[in-house]
This record gives sequence, structure tokens and C-alpha cells, in this order.
Amino acid sequence: MRRVLYPGSFDPVTNGHLDVAKRAAKIFDEVLVAVAANSEKKAAFSIEERMKLFQEACKDLPNVKVVTFHGLLVNAVDRFHADAVIRGIRAASDFEYEFQMALMNRELNGRCETLFMMTDPAYSFVSSRLIKEIAANDGDYASFVPPAVAEALKRKFSKEEKH
Ligand code: PNS
Repeated sequence: MRRVLYPGSFDPVTNGHLDVAKRAAKIFDEVLVAVAANSEKKAAFSIEERMKLFQEACKDLPNVKVVTFHGLLVNAVDRFHADAVIRGIRAASDFEYEFQMALMNRELNGRCETLFMMTDPAYSFVSSRLIKEIAANDGDYASFVPPAVAEALKRKFSKEEKH
């Protein structure tokens, strides 16, 4: 039984994230999507919302589960008995930060191996940050996110406009 942890902020999940989860699910027996509870970034969606949106997006993938974690990723790796961590890489610019984090994580916990999965080129320019910016400015983001996320963004940003 090989279990991989797929950590991230997922604020919100995009089609790029979903593609990584789907492809990882073909390689590993179980994929645990791990939504970070104390990410540095100020989140637009709550942990519960982010988990629910990822769960909805992967409801047809029986070996993908969604969990949350507080604190260090290396501790979550032990707690969830994961064999590895997987992260998506979109471009060389992602690599520097990811490489540093992977090395630090392995230094902190010798069991924490990080694997990188290259993005499908169709999603190489998609990011949660850009999606939120497009949503906040009334643009069209529907082809970059799962349908439930598009609905949630519509609700969130039209609500924020009224305040
Ligand atoms: O989707 P993101 O924001 O790129 O994900 C980054 C995340 C949440 C995976 C990373 O910040 C993380 O692992 N945070 C938990 C705290 C931690 O372990 N930091 C790394 C120390 S080397």
C-alpha cells in the first residue's frame, strides 16, 4: 500500500491541481490531498470550504481523500503514514522554491521524500492567485477550475462586491 501526500493551500483548487491528483492516483494506491491550515498566505476560502471543493472535484476518484494539517508538513507525513510527498511544477520558476522546501523537509525528516510532477502544459499558466484576481475583476475563469469552484467563486466575489 503506497500512500502519497499532496499538500497545498488549494485556495481554491484549480484544474491544474486536479490533474496532478488524478495522475498521482494512477501511480499510488492512495493520494491524500492535504490542505494546509496555517499557510502563510491569507486565504479567500476557509479550510472547510477548500476541503469541500477539492472533495467535490475528486468525488469520482476512489483512492483520493482530502485531509487537513496544521504545522509542519514533515509531521503530517508521519501522522498520515505517507511514503512520499508530491508537488506539481509548472515552470522553472516554481522549481527553486520547491527544491529548497524539499531539501529542508528531508533534512527535518529523513522519511520525507518529495516527488515532482510536471504540469500538463494546458495548465502551466493556471494558479489560484490569478484565478482569484480574475474573479475579483469579473473576468471569465470557468475553464480553469472545476464547476463547483466556479460557482463558489461567483458567490464569494459577488458577495464581497456588495460590502
Ligand atoms: O499551495 P502552496 O501554497 O504552494 O503550498 C505550500 C505548502 C502549504 C505545501 C507549504 O507552505 C507547507 O508545507 N506549509 C506547512 C509548513 C511547512 O512545513 N513549511 C515548510 C518548511 S520547509
